Amino acid sequence: MDKRSFIDYYKSVVPFRNPNAIAISDFLRFELGIDGTKNVFEVGCGIGDLIKNIGAGVADGCDVNNDKFLKLEANYLKDVKSDFYDVVFAYSVFQYFPDFCYASKAIDEMFRICKDDGIVFIGDVPDIDLMFDFFDFTGRDIKKFDNDSRRPMPLFYSKSFFRRFGSCIIVNNKNFCNDSRFRFNVKYVNGRYRKK
Ligand SMILES: C[S@@+](CC[C@H](N)C(=O)[O-])C[C@H]1O[C@@H](n2cnc3c(N)ncnc32)[C@H](O)[C@@H]1O
Repeated sequence: MDKRSFIDYYKSVVPFRNPNAIAISDFLRFELGIDGTKNVFEVGCGIGDLIKNIGAGVADGCDVNNDKFLKLEANYLKDVKSDFYDVVFAYSVFQYFPDFCYASKAIDEMFRICKDDGIVFIGDVPDIDLMFDFFDFTGRDIKKFDNDSRRPMPLFYSKSFFRRFGSCIIVNNKNFCNDSRFRFNVKYVNGRYRKK
């Protein structure tokens, strides 16, 4: 059977609509101090349910399959201005990356476009310490992912992966949906740290 990546999968389906968009954008606005004076960029914004409701002065975003925003992959934000955004965030996106090398490049790009004193936030990241609890909870059989070309195995992350990029605050995600408790949020409060 042909193996596909999540990137191919997401390119082939209708752009994602977030059923919990209002609650999540309210949470992000408060958590990231977003108001009308802030430039904000969302990586993997889907149909824009979060970024459109977040109340930023400049609200930009990219996704692999949406023409309304920049059609870009997270690991190469071509032509997106460096050092321009006060907040750069991705929410519920990193699990769809092909591997950790790709994820590292995506983080580098987030730091590149973020101002030196800005915030980089990566939300709703599946926690590798809770991976088997997650599969027990959902009733999905981990062995079946091998044969399932439509929905590949999502990436689960350790918290130490994110600490490699700089000091950050890592907390469990809020309870927005049934599986939120298997995920965490990462906040880097100083965008300068990772810049080359
Ligand atoms: C679960 S949706 C979340 C969308 C949005 N962040 C939200 O919470 O409403 C995941 C999104 O990530 C996008 N995506 C997946 N892989 C991506 C990649 N490599 N680069 C950019 N976007 C990606 C998908 O197209 C999809 O819109």
